Amino acid sequence: MSKYCIANWKMYMNRNKIDSYFNDFLEKDFDKNCKLIICPSPMHIDYVYEKIRTNKSIFLGSQNISEHENGAFTGECSLEMLLESNCMYSIIGHSERRELFNENDFNVNSKLQILNNSPVNPIICIGETSDENESGITKAVLKNQLIKIFDNIDFKDTKEYIIAYEPIWAIGTGKSADTETIYSIHKFLKNIINEINTNNCNICLLYGGSVNDNNAAEILSINEVDGFLIGSASLNADKFYNIYNKF
Ligand code: PGA
Repeated sequence: MSKYCIANWKMYMNRNKIDSYFNDFLEKDFDKNCKLIICPSPMHIDYVYEKIRTNKSIFLGSQNISEHENGAFTGECSLEMLLESNCMYSIIGHSERRELFNENDFNVNSKLQILNNSPVNPIICIGETSDENESGITKAVLKNQLIKIFDNIDFKDTKEYIIAYEPIWAIGTGKSADTETIYSIHKFLKNIINEINTNNCNICLLYGGSVNDNNAAEILSINEVDGFLIGSASLNADKFYNIYNKF
């Protein structure tokens, strides 16, 4: 089972910041048994590729992908474009896409269909809102998301399927879920995944939501956690490397 340490830079970086990010970063050891993936904005994917191209331990991902192959979709990025830019991973269904750009599980399912027939591996985000959490319906919400997202997906053993459980109330708030909650939700999700017909494909389950270099080791000690999707703490190269180093 692979482990993953994934950076979601969102819309924060610029070329100067990327230059300083990689100054020391590339000199570090990347000998952990864990894949390190960086997801820049689409404008910076090629720029980051030029930095990391000789480092075989760092991979590139996109923060989104269009559910259409090509056409008149202003502002969107297609699978072909991601492939041309050496992206081997793509985040789909991030809560910010859902909340701010009205994406739903059906869109995420369409994006997964596109990725499933390509060499690009999906990083599928699911998570409950704070209202849903407070109403005690977290597990039902997550189960429903997984069922809709995986509807009609023909799992392939050549692909890496990565799910990130990201409670929306924990994203960017500095307040991660506690370890008991993460353990119980991850155990629940792994059971659901076992019930889905995944053709025995490996499906990894990451945690995301205010992971930082202080709480990473404790969360990683939970057996059911196969890695992290990290926003804020991934913007600082030292912090991100410290988290990677805990694997
Ligand atoms: P955060 O973001 O680490 O800043 O909470 C996580 C995410 O949005 O994936």
